[in-house]
Amino acid sequence: MTQQRLFIGLMSGTSGDAIDAALVGFDTAGQPHLLTAHQVALPTAIQSRIFDLQSGLETHIERVCELDVDMADLYTQAVNELLTRAGTDKASIEAVGNHGQTLLHYPNVERAFTLQVGDNHRLAERTGIAVVGDFRRRDVAAGGQGAPLVPAFQKTLVNRSESTVFLNIGGIANISIITAAGVTGFDTGPGNTLLDAWIRQHRKMPFDQGGVWAAAGQALEPLISDMLADPYFSQKAPKSTGQDYFNLVWLERFELNAYRAEDVQRSLLELTARSIASEIITTGCQTIYLSGGGYHNTLLVQRLKDLMPQANLRSSDALGVDPDFMEAMAFAWLAKQCLDGKHSGLPEVTGAVSPSILGVVFPKP
Ligand SMILES: Nc1ncnc2c1ncn2[C@@H]1O[C@H](COP(=O)(O)OP(=O)(O)O)[C@@H](O)[C@H]1O
Ligand SMILES: [Mg+2]
Repeated sequence: MTQQRLFIGLMSGTSGDAIDAALVGFDTAGQPHLLTAHQVALPTAIQSRIFDLQSGLETHIERVCELDVDMADLYTQAVNELLTRAGTDKASIEAVGNHGQTLLHYPNVERAFTLQVGDNHRLAERTGIAVVGDFRRRDVAAGGQGAPLVPAFQKTLVNRSESTVFLNIGGIANISIITAAGVTGFDTGPGNTLLDAWIRQHRKMPFDQGGVWAAAGQALEPLISDMLADPYFSQKAPKSTGQDYFNLVWLERFELNAYRAEDVQRSLLELTARSIASEIITTGCQTIYLSGGGYHNTLLVQRLKDLMPQANLRSSDALGVDPDFMEAMAFAWLAKQCLDGKHSGLPEVTGAVSPSILGVVFPKP
């Protein structure tokens, strides 16, 4: 244990559900071990503020600044509770790798940008630990998508002689394809985000536990075809997307009030499953490790298995990575790479012109 270098990774994804915090020890071979994990649920009021800013319902700059502060305080809470739970002193942590809360991610416009909030200066001050943050913007500045960043970490988890796909189903779903030839990866499209948005609107629930509500509905084939005709699904990688695109506004164009709400939920689940499966089938890989909150949606996982009967689809637990903390662990690793002055941006994944050292160091007080 004393041999290990300790880092904390913090992730709060597009779902706006929770902050995932992971205490990660890297052994002398550089292999990560999840020592302690902790989640802090985002208060509903914070979640609404995030969604309102993402969707443009709220546009005041003060609201962005206030959220920047409030997220930093929630990240501080997550770090402190994680350390208490682990019984670890903050002095033994080299750095906190903090993804931040994405408000906007527009890598494809001429003046490309991506914005994550959660003031890292404040987080470093309040935790007394160095923070590494702002991971995505250097890659965007280098002409890349700034996403996904997790494939570089996943590359360290597997033996590259066997082709492997990592599938993470968060708000948005993304895949990493790791083969002897190299690493690629991209966002396939919506993960849980449309499912969450629809059930929130119709049943006032944060998500469809186990996919039970979707299971009560019927898949509407013409609707699914219309949705799959969105150009994002046929666009070639590198590509990335966000909840600022796949959201209730995106759904409005399909005039969904004509249908039973549970049939729409079932169709949205099909959209997620089919858009993921068709991309994975194209890779030809049969070994798939699943992570992200979508892992808990029993119907979604069953549909993925049905659509890819040849594949061996397993939880990332099989590699020692708790599926709920894959991304948090990746940000611990990204912080370590930054402190070590090593590249972690993969141009072959993001489309950047060159590899970059990702992240900015906010020293401890
Ligand atoms: N028991 C469950 N049943 C169905 N869906 C679930 C369950 N638990 C979590 N989820 C889904 O996972 C989402 C959170 O996934 P997560 O990987 O944290 O995404 P993000 O990285 O976008 O925050 C929730 O919003 C919900 O849609
Ligand atoms: Mg989350």
